[in-house]
Amino acid sequence: MGAPSIKELSPVFPLGSRLTDAGHIEVGGCDLLEVAREFGTPAYVVSPDDLRARARAFTDAFAACTDDAEIVFASKAFPCTAVMRVLGEEGLGCDVASAGELELALAAGFRGERIHLHGNAKTLADLEAARAAGVRHIVIDNLDEIARLEGVVASDGRGPQPVSIRVNPDVRGDTHDKISTGQADSKFGLGGADVAEAIARLRSSALLDLEGVHMHIGSQILDLEPFRRAVEAISELPTLAEVNLGGGLGVQYTAADPPAPSYAEYARVKVDAVRDVFGDGVRIVDEPGRALVAHSTVTLYTVQSVKTNVRHYVAVDGGMADNLRPMMYGARYEAHVADRLGGGTPCVLVGMHCESSDVIVADADLPDPRVGDVIVTPATGAYGYSMANNYNAVPRAPVVFASDGDARLVVRRETLAELHARDV
Ligand code: LLP
Repeated sequence: MGAPSIKELSPVFPLGSRLTDAGHIEVGGCDLLEVAREFGTPAYVVSPDDLRARARAFTDAFAACTDDAEIVFASKAFPCTAVMRVLGEEGLGCDVASAGELELALAAGFRGERIHLHGNAKTLADLEAARAAGVRHIVIDNLDEIARLEGVVASDGRGPQPVSIRVNPDVRGDTHDKISTGQADSKFGLGGADVAEAIARLRSSALLDLEGVHMHIGSQILDLEPFRRAVEAISELPTLAEVNLGGGLGVQYTAADPPAPSYAEYARVKVDAVRDVFGDGVRIVDEPGRALVAHSTVTLYTVQSVKTNVRHYVAVDGGMADNLRPMMYGARYEAHVADRLGGGTPCVLVGMHCESSDVIVADADLPDPRVGDVIVTPATGAYGYSMANNYNAVPRAPVVFASDGDARLVVRRETLAELHARDV
């Protein structure tokens, strides 16, 4: 206890975050203690300026390597219309993986022609919704959906549907098994003889136009080399107009982790690989999720109890309902007290849910944490809100935009009444 206070914020906070003279953490010019008071906890606090800066930097990184690239936000990473709208305003397209994500993309202002539909088990309803919206590409993931989609196209009278095919390159990235998708043993994409069969069937189809190939080898990938090998692995395919390289770039989650590769390094590896394998003139699509949104957001909690047995347990009012990533993937986060940066008390930051896996940060180091303290976990913008749930019938947390000293609610907290509003 009593460790010296820290004067510098960790690099995983949103761009422009700082410590005030009073030692409070500020995001988007807003004191997080005041944000917690105004909107309650748990809450996701997002810097839209951080989102914009990263969207621009990502687009610029690809533009520096090729004049024919499209950046498409993988909306599953943060399917909140306010967030999606900001990224759309920055010129990005949108990747959706269900009729629900499509609904959000349209509500966020994306035009159909900027939307790509994915999914390894698309339903008739997903396909019909995508057709009605006029999406740019439907990404064929398996042989079964070809006839299903042809049926939809034949009956809706809207003309042929541009499609791409998702291939499985059998390349593994350096990531957690649960978020690795490029290995042959995967539910995603076409592999082996299915690739040639899909191409033959699509080429002979009067209803579907095969325009591109798609791959996505996994998520939170920090070694760039597998991205190159994945493109090399599909060198036998005919050259198509468009190569969609999926997402996958990992991010730094804590100050103790090494920095992730830059957008520029990532773009260079992917673009060079496509050029080396398919030559010039191929349009490149990239679908970042995490790398655009992870650092935009911090989550706020309030300490409800502090208890010591074998270890020191600090329990807050959120947990696995607002951030499943530590439990699902062993993901590590930082934790700070909003108005007392520093450490000195090794502790386990736990949530309020009824199981022992509800650990947000197993090795937190907080400055003598007390009941009522506001705890801040940075870098929670990717796949926190999207995997939020109602375990223990906890209403889902609100989303607050913090910019220029103004904190504005963009998604309100779910109410208790909403927990049974669907009962019939
Ligand atoms: N494109 C496709 C087809 C995808 O399936 C994904 C993510 C992306 C793009 C974006 O990948 P990113 O750039 O975010 O790595 N819930 C997990 C992550 C699952 C990723 C699913 N697909 C997590 O919290 O780590």
